[in-house]
Amino acid sequence: MAATRNPGFDDPFYQPADQFFPANNKLALTFDDVTLATLYSEILPRDTQLDTQLAENLRLNIPVISSDMDTVTESRMAIAMAANGGLGLIHYNMPERQQLSEVSRVKNHVHGLIQEPIQVAPDQLIGDVLALIEQKKFGFSTFPVVDGKGKLVGLLSGHVVKPRYAKRKVADALTPRAQVHTITQKELGKDPIARADKFFNEHLGIHKLLVVDDKDNLRGLFTMSDIERITQERSAQFKPARDARFHLICGAAVSATRNAFGELDRERILNHVGGLVERGVDVVAVSTAHGHSQGVGDTVRVLRDAFSKLPIIAGNVTSAAGVEYLAECGANIIKVGQGPGSICTTRIVAGVGIPQMTALYVGSRAAAKKKVSILADGGIVKSGDIVKALTLSQAVICGGIFAGCNEAPGEVIEIGGKLYKQYRGMGSFTAMKSGSAARYGHSPNPTQKVAPEGVEALKEACGSVDRVLAQLIGGIQSGLGYLGAANLAQLRDKARYIRVSPAGMREAAPHDVVELKTGN
Ligand code: XMP
Repeated sequence: MAATRNPGFDDPFYQPADQFFPANNKLALTFDDVTLATLYSEILPRDTQLDTQLAENLRLNIPVISSDMDTVTESRMAIAMAANGGLGLIHYNMPERQQLSEVSRVKNHVHGLIQEPIQVAPDQLIGDVLALIEQKKFGFSTFPVVDGKGKLVGLLSGHVVKPRYAKRKVADALTPRAQVHTITQKELGKDPIARADKFFNEHLGIHKLLVVDDKDNLRGLFTMSDIERITQERSAQFKPARDARFHLICGAAVSATRNAFGELDRERILNHVGGLVERGVDVVAVSTAHGHSQGVGDTVRVLRDAFSKLPIIAGNVTSAAGVEYLAECGANIIKVGQGPGSICTTRIVAGVGIPQMTALYVGSRAAAKKKVSILADGGIVKSGDIVKALTLSQAVICGGIFAGCNEAPGEVIEIGGKLYKQYRGMGSFTAMKSGSAARYGHSPNPTQKVAPEGVEALKEACGSVDRVLAQLIGGIQSGLGYLGAANLAQLRDKARYIRVSPAGMREAAPHDVVELKTGN
């Protein structure tokens, strides 16, 4: 490929990480301070692979993780992230029992299986069912019919849910149990979608398949249209991230909990993580603002001793020494980022923290030595930031980018005709009052004086996670294409950097035009 490169002219300008960052060691750099140089490419963006191995038994199909924040990741977000090939980390600003059920919800989620279908009772009138459809604005009119004990007694077909039959009882109009197509939970096997797809192929004209347990209690419903959508998705490039038993993967954050005497509460931490493991959690994250600390190190050690195979994320750090320390304590994956987050005020309040690209560079070199992965956590606002972060890390963690999505916790708020969702720092005063104070080394007692290290904010509502991720993934694939990188390992290998001036930054964004539509 000699004809495609001219090292003589390019090399003094566009430097690989090990030349560029040491040469810029007097200045802490972040995403907008640098740009990546293009390279000769034979790779089309759409052919690039984005899978990433974070630990021996933790692999993602896209390198994107949703943040363990109480306005970002609960089960709905974690399901959407894993369904797209990524990972969600369930936050810990909730009672421990509730976090266990959030994890169970993700692990038991069968994509395409409606687990709690709307059902009707045999003694209801068809008129009642019509009123229900009208009131709830249902777009369907076929319902399983279930008795008071949850047993399936039949199926009420949409053909009979008509005003002319309003006075008739459901019991008189239903298709009886013996004629209803069902499958038991056990028969679903490892791949319920393939099983349901096979059923619909074999049963001409049947559009509903009910799932029952051994006692004939209703446990779910497949519709042919859902299955068709999912089977089409299966040919998509980025598959859902699943465990060996074909369940979506899920992570959960835990804190370095202390007892009333200020000592690490080993028993409580072990009990809780034991519960998470029982429910099938794939990774736990010991999430704090200062990971290079005794409390976090001890928590990681306790967990590593008790759960030898469990992937452990720990953080946050911004130094090579911090990465080495947590790796030596037993963490497999280290979060890098102190103060870059869109709702963070750590650098303002504490005067501490390092801009992301420099922090990632030093962290990545220590991580390679210790054979652990690192995650770029915070400060990402556009797909180009992700590409730059991935030149030095194995995946990114995003909060603000997902906080406006339908799947994030919290209600949509309308202000001046625009729709928003709440987004707050875990170090904001209200979040700390709800439980995250330990993350910032403060007492959970809200009467004590504490300096919040995060703000409460709003994010514009931005639709589904699928839509947001499609934009981000497209951008990441373009980045790889420009560098001639077929996958993330090649991206890390090939990246060459140069500083950008303030004028260069202005040049990079749309300028000197009246913008009619934004890029997204
Ligand atoms: P983005 O930029 O994606 O950042 O919104 C999300 C990340 O920010 C961190 N985080 C905080 N950092 N004070 C901080 O200094 C806070 O209150 C706070 N809350 C979250 C966290 O690492 C998250 O993933």
